[in-house]
Amino acid sequence: MRNPFRVVVVTGVPGVGKTTVLGKLAELAEEKGIRIKIVNFGSSMLNYAVREGIINNRDEIRRLPLRKQLELQQLAARDIIDTASKELGEGDYLIIDTHALVKTVAGYWPGLPKHVIDELKPDMIAVIEASPEVIAARQARDKGRYRSDIGGPQGIARLMEYARAASFASAVFYASTVAIVENREGAPEQAAQEILEKMLNL
Ligand code: AP5
Repeated sequence: MRNPFRVVVVTGVPGVGKTTVLGKLAELAEEKGIRIKIVNFGSSMLNYAVREGIINNRDEIRRLPLRKQLELQQLAARDIIDTASKELGEGDYLIIDTHALVKTVAGYWPGLPKHVIDELKPDMIAVIEASPEVIAARQARDKGRYRSDIGGPQGIARLMEYARAASFASAVFYASTVAIVENREGAPEQAAQEILEKMLNL
């Protein structure tokens, strides 16, 4: 039912601040001597897609034909666990920055369907949240990325609602806990602290 190391899957709508919070989590874990490995699921999918020469930007992944996204999703899940299994042991933590739901051109699509969960076997699924207006403002400030296909605050609110439901659905397969964590404006370290406290009780 589990990998030897603890697996924490971190989800949240694009631009909520997952990567920022996980940067703080890495600092906190290092201070406390806790061994964690943070991986970005989208980066792993992108590596395979770039090798095939089909795209070169992570925001293009969700616009690929769905069969191709499915293939990349499966490759990424396997690769992440294979690599972590060589590096991590009992008492270590694998943290995966990903999505419970992806807004694709073909419709809302699960980021953590059964074939992915069968590889990851998460101990915990953390859902990072903030108000839709705050997320829209963060997306607007983050000029290096293209996230306007997610929509304004209304589109973000809808995606958050569906993504929460998708996280609980994914948790059922391997009895993962679900933690809803708020990433307050100007205080990503608080969200990181909250995740760390929960992780240590897995
Ligand atoms: P991914 O790379 O994860 O894209 P993303 O969701 O846009 O995530 P980011 O990591 O860029 O955003 P973030 O939420 O981490 O925000 P950030 O910290 O940068 O995924 C790429 C693609 O891969 C997906 O679109 C999908 O196609 C695919 N994919 C991934 N997983 C998949 C799966 N399982 N199945 C299928 N496909 C999958 O922060 C944003 C901004 O906010 C920054 O400017 C930051 O400084 C600011 N900020 C953050 N926190 C705060 C705060 N507390 N206060 C003030 N500002 C803040």
